Formats: sequence, C-alpha cells, structure tokens
Amino acid sequence: MRRGRRGAIKGLIAGGLALWLYSFYEPIVRIEVVKHRLDLGLGLDILFVTDTHLHGVPGREDMVIKLVKNLSPEVDLTILGGDIYDEFSESLESFSSLLDAVNGEALMVLGNHEHWAAGRYPIEETVELVESRGIQVLRNRLVEYRGLLIGGIDWYGDDPGLAKKYYRGVGRVDILVSHTPDILGDAEVDARLVLAGHTHGGQILGPLGLITNSRHGYVSGFYRRGETLMYVSRGAGEIIPFRLLTPREVTVLSV
Ligand SMILES: [Fe+2]
Repeated sequence: MRRGRRGAIKGLIAGGLALWLYSFYEPIVRIEVVKHRLDLGLGLDILFVTDTHLHGVPGREDMVIKLVKNLSPEVDLTILGGDIYDEFSESLESFSSLLDAVNGEALMVLGNHEHWAAGRYPIEETVELVESRGIQVLRNRLVEYRGLLIGGIDWYGDDPGLAKKYYRGVGRVDILVSHTPDILGDAEVDARLVLAGHTHGGQILGPLGLITNSRHGYVSGFYRRGETLMYVSRGAGEIIPFRLLTPREVTVLSV
C-alpha cells in the first residue's frame, strides 16, 4: 500500500517534470499556421503576425521569418500586430529581416513593447524603418485598401482612458487592428472584424482560459460584440520562452 502511494507520488513528480521541461521546448520548436475562413464578404486573405518578440534567437525566429516569407506572397495583405520586438531585443536586425521577408502589401500597428522600448529604439525611428519598406504604420488612422477601410489603433493600455480618443481617429471601418483586444470593451467599435494579439493566448494551458493580461478577460480565438467579430491571436513569440499547450501561431484569415 505504502509502496503504491510512493509510486504514485513518483509518477506525479515525473509527469510534472516532463510538463515543465516540455513548456520550455514548446515555444522553441512549435509554431502553428492557423487558418480560418470567415466569409465576411470582404474578399481578402490576410496573414496576421503578432507578438513575435524578436530577440535575435536563431532557429526559433528564423521559423517565423521563413513563414512570413512563404505565406505573405500567397495572401492579399500582411498585418503585423505589434510587439514584433521589445525592450530586450539587442538590435533591430531580426525585426528588419522580418520586414524584408514580407512580400506584398502590408500594414503594422505598434504594441506595448515597441512603446516600452522607445528609450532604446525611438518610435519615430521605428515608424521610419517600417515605412521605408513600404509598410504603413497605422497610429489611430485608417487607410483604404481594395475598397475596404482598414484602421489601426496605437497602444494605449497604459492609459485606458485614451481608447475612445484613439478610436475617434479611426471611426467606422471594415477591419480594425489593435495590439490589445481590450479595444472591443473600451470603445464603441464599429467594424466587421477586429484583429488583436497581446495575450499570447495566456501562454500556459491557454485552452482553459485561466491566464490573461486583458482587462476584459480576452484570451485567444473569436469573440463577438454586436455585429463585430474579433480574432485574438496567440502570437508568435514571447519574452520568456515558456509555453504549455498554447503553441505559437501565425494566422491566415480568409475574410
Ligand atoms: Fe503586448
């Protein structure tokens, strides 16, 4: 009896250790290309890449860059959702490689980490770097693309009171891109589709929806408010590579 209990405890410890080791393995090796057909009648195929947190780690980041290189020519529009680099990025070399990998039309919004890294990489210089590649950075403004209005919200999560003001700079659009999904709860969003990231899908046991940095409780996947559908990506990276059953993703959406 005592031996059986000891065996069970050993099994639990071994299982826990295996999961703990796997949670370091998952963010290094695993990345999913998630595909969704939404049939919103907008007639666009979009590659959505967010939260890559590029730190110059070979292998892991090359996978993301290679996916962007392979997938971007197959879609109509590539959208970068912010936190592409962060304050721990030693240089913007990987970021530049990712921008160079984009083949075709592209847009970007900024995340909290681009803003938090501004002491090291000033925002204006980042915008210049991105736009020198022909990729527009949408900071509370919209563009027209193939007859659709696409708006982008700048990071405002450090002062949620800015959400409504920032959204007023955009107004009604077909597609709204915001690094944080909280925009859906913070402003009267009028859009067919919202694309967001920031949560990393909770990073640990994402399907259970236990962990999130969203004030409105968004974790990953689809949410609807009225006529507006929002998709929250699990993102393609993180600061500390530790994930458990919440794989990194890049997303292809047919809308
Ligand atoms: Fe973020």
